[in-house]
Amino acid sequence: MIPELHIPELDNFFYLPEEIINVLDSLEKLARKHSVNILVVGRQGCGKSSLISQFAAYYKRPLAVFQIGQLSEPGQLFGEHALKGGDTYYQEFLFPRAISTPNCVVHLEEINRPEHPKALNELFSVLSEDRSIWSDQLGLIKVAKGVVFFASMNEGEEFTGTDSLDVALRDRFYILPVDYPSVEIEKKILTSKTGIDDNQAGMILKIIGSLRSDPNIDETISVRHSLMIAELMVAGGSLRESLIYSLSVSRDLIESLLLAVHVETKETIIKSSEYKLFL
Ligand SMILES: Nc1ncnc2c1ncn2[C@@H]1O[C@H](COP(=O)(O)OP(=O)(O)OP(=O)(O)O)[C@@H](O)[C@H]1O
Ligand SMILES: [Mg+2]
Repeated sequence: MIPELHIPELDNFFYLPEEIINVLDSLEKLARKHSVNILVVGRQGCGKSSLISQFAAYYKRPLAVFQIGQLSEPGQLFGEHALKGGDTYYQEFLFPRAISTPNCVVHLEEINRPEHPKALNELFSVLSEDRSIWSDQLGLIKVAKGVVFFASMNEGEEFTGTDSLDVALRDRFYILPVDYPSVEIEKKILTSKTGIDDNQAGMILKIIGSLRSDPNIDETISVRHSLMIAELMVAGGSLRESLIYSLSVSRDLIESLLLAVHVETKETIIKSSEYKLFL
């Protein structure tokens, strides 16, 4: 069974720079004339997927998401031969349906990292001028009117960078760089999305800020992480616990940072906890 395509829900607390909002609006207008391809690049957890989902929600377009990073062979997006009662038949996947649905937002996640390099070949024809592809099993599949292709990829110091996407493919996209929001905006995101108070959100961001600027820490601490920490605190976790169990950063480092802001947090810092029955 192919799942139904639907318009995602609007996130009432999604923040973007005004300039990006304006560009998205122009691209949406353009997409009503002909299909457009937009590549969203940015570091891990900076809001790429949510930007694309918000675009679909705001412009009331159905959304379909495909994990390109998981493709291990060509043809995999379209369908596969399956068995039913001893007969083989061709089972169509969501991709052909999505690209032939007018105004659909088609999100290609991790476009720079397919497991099989040739897995991207078939995407070329739907993303390039012909906007159609021939499938032996399904015939000619044409990209419907108003379809917007979004691709997303992680691009940061820790990733291989600009070269990691085939030049010819990249050439066919408008490029939208996104980054982590400022501390003030991130604070707004935390308070509005999790209900955490201003003071506690400030505390989380203070500690995260120190970790983010620490050159010895390889792990990227994203908005996803700050939301996880805030949610855990709202659910009853202490600042210390919420930090330790959300981040893969050493406890000692977190504890020393907590000590530094201790005066402000007035949190009791318990070094280690006693064992007791989990009953
Ligand atoms: N600008 C923002 N405004 C509101 N919420 C945001 C913003 N940026 C990120 N978030 C929140 O942070 C979380 C992570 O965002 P998202 O999954 O979109 O990141 P991503 O860049 O796609 O991550 P990945 O690199 O892992 O694919 C989501 O819950 C999202 O709603
Ligand atoms: Mg994503």
